[in-house]
Amino acid sequence: MTRKLLVTGGAGFIGSNFVHHVVAHTDDHVTVLDKLTYAGNKASLAHLPSDRVNLVEGDIADADLVDGLFAQVDAVVHYAAESHNDNSLHDPRPFLDTNIIGTYTLLEAARRHDRRFHHISTDEVYGDLELDDPARFTESTPYNPSSPYSSTKAGSDLLVRAWVRSFGVQATISNCSNNYGPFQHVEKFIPRQITNVLRGTRPKLYGKGENVRDWIHADDHSSAVLTILEQGRIGETYLIGADGERSNQNVVELILTLMGQDADAYDHVTDRAGHDLRYAIDSTKLRSELGWRPQYDNFEAGLAATIDWYRQNEDWWGPSKVGVEAFYATKRQ
Ligand code: NAD
Ligand code: DAU
Repeated sequence: MTRKLLVTGGAGFIGSNFVHHVVAHTDDHVTVLDKLTYAGNKASLAHLPSDRVNLVEGDIADADLVDGLFAQVDAVVHYAAESHNDNSLHDPRPFLDTNIIGTYTLLEAARRHDRRFHHISTDEVYGDLELDDPARFTESTPYNPSSPYSSTKAGSDLLVRAWVRSFGVQATISNCSNNYGPFQHVEKFIPRQITNVLRGTRPKLYGKGENVRDWIHADDHSSAVLTILEQGRIGETYLIGADGERSNQNVVELILTLMGQDADAYDHVTDRAGHDLRYAIDSTKLRSELGWRPQYDNFEAGLAATIDWYRQNEDWWGPSKVGVEAFYATKRQ
């Protein structure tokens, strides 16, 4: 059956990867609703067939616009957010507007139109783990967010849960670990270091570089979301992860090696305030209940392909690079 999907934030990193995945693997039609903030880029949706994908430029907090779009679709996948921790430390306000009020606006429309709603969230809502802790996050780990960004994502998750229980909205939630792959903004860790090397600048590692992130390819995130949208139980939360824990130092050294540089050719810079130490996802529920499996099981190969993508797509990332580095320079990063 051909569905009509509304994908919020579909011009951002993970949202655009999802739109590409849907076009490749289903017959669905996708309407993207995106405000095209600094993080949104129309070019990430270029070359997709115009009879399968259309872009509406607008704000998820615009209730009239959202209401009209919900009336036209069968289901909604909600990626739109302010997504960068460093920005949230600098200016939290847009995070409240989009992540909290924007999600509230969408939930009210889902309620009015009785539409299937999938909310994209993050493992950061659970706070962090010690480096030597054998535990990983599960669906029952208590919420304990650290940053303005993660606290607004936690707030949005709680709104979704309340709208399911109080108003019967047909929603599911997924909390995913760190994504890598094509179309990621150069403000984020992996693209920043790849594009630094491409520009002849040394990569920048916050603090000691011992912080651990649990990496998953964005295409695996997309297949998991599609699985939950189609088979997930209403009201449930599913954690998405691909057993990809690595320290930041290890990732920087790998990028440098894959790009033909000395593995130690990076700089340590001022640490991020409140920097979460380690994230780790136990995705047993998603795998055992819904049969999902990641396809990208070789991080080095996925990273090498991502490096190639940035090498070949300077037109896509070049215009953002100067502004991003100017922002980081004000913080000595
Ligand atoms: P991104 O910053 O690359 O993209 C966000 C998109 O949302 C952009 O296209 C932007 O223009 C759009 N947007 C922002 N505010 C909007 C508004 N008010 N109305 C409409 N559109 C708006 O972010 P991303 O990394 O692709 O993350 C997407 C989602 O996935 C977020 O909800 C994030 O919390 C979640 N997530 C991200 C990761 C990760 O590793 N990047 C991991 C887990 C979960
Ligand atoms: O865990 C999921 C989250 O992953 C998502 O919810 C967020 O939207 C996404 O941005 C990401 O958050 P992080 O803060 O983990 O990602 P970031 O790319 O900003 O940083 C990854 C790690 O690398 C983190 O420990 C900080 C560090 N870092 C980052 C930058 C930009 C550096 O050491 N140097 C850098 O230049």
